[in-house]
Amino acid sequence: MKLCVIGDPVEHSLSPAMHNAALRELGLEHTYEKIRVKPEELKKFIERIRSGEISGASITIPHKQSILPLMDGLSKEAELIGAVNTVQRKENKLVGHNTDGIGCVNALEEAGVEVSGKSALILGAGGAARAIAFTLALSGAEALEIANRTPEKAEALARDVNEETGLEVAAGDLSNLGSKIRNVDILINTTSVGMKGTQEDKTLVKAVDMHPGLVVNDIVYTPRKTLLLKEAGKAGCKIVEGRGMLVHQGAEQFRIFTGKDAPVEVMREALNEALGEKN
Ligand code: ATR
Repeated sequence: MKLCVIGDPVEHSLSPAMHNAALRELGLEHTYEKIRVKPEELKKFIERIRSGEISGASITIPHKQSILPLMDGLSKEAELIGAVNTVQRKENKLVGHNTDGIGCVNALEEAGVEVSGKSALILGAGGAARAIAFTLALSGAEALEIANRTPEKAEALARDVNEETGLEVAAGDLSNLGSKIRNVDILINTTSVGMKGTQEDKTLVKAVDMHPGLVVNDIVYTPRKTLLLKEAGKAGCKIVEGRGMLVHQGAEQFRIFTGKDAPVEVMREALNEALGEKN
């Protein structure tokens, strides 16, 4: 069986390393490769899945939204989030899933953080924030606030989550984060602040604004310990690294593709090897 990740660019995708390690571990005969698909080639590519030549695909930038109308059906998450990161071929039909949000929630739960009944503050209001906000709401989070540099985007996302799930979601800009954080159990950074490169020495929140008992999750995964996570360490917070979400969104994809539980530790090792331990 042939599996793949498609995107443009796709060269730096970490998915082949994780999925191939998992397939090998389970002794499955599938192959998983990366295929560069340009936007104008997407429709034609989808026919290769429809015909059965390819049996499943991970979807990355820039296709996550444009692929929606090409699907025969959507999972509840994909429909709510409005983006697809996984295509499954099921009885000749193409079903679009989104495992990004569940990847984040499973990473938190793996760290012993039960999302149900908790309050969370999400920094950022882009695609990743959208997936995470909906999944937290579906997972029983009790309160949710979204803070974004451009507050209008946070407000629009909060409105969507409220309309679809019924959860009251507060929204605003990045001011007064200290007072916002005082009331929450979980802080999740979905912005690119802290990412290797020009933003590496930056953090939206410092230790003084954190409290012990707060869980801090940065979905930025290079460097492994972002400045935000270092500050969280100083404040005695529980830390969840960005690699957790990456591994768990892949593990969920693996389950969709193969119908088998993913060897999560094997996928994590492959990811660490591909990224380097520190980086
Ligand atoms: P992704 O799909 O990873 O979520 P995205 O959709 O491009 O990426 O979203 C990037 C997020 O990071 C946005 O919330 C963006 O804020 P704006 O909506 O105001 O653009 C946020 N972001 C990026 N750089 C930032 C910075 N220097 N300071 C604060 N927020 C930043």
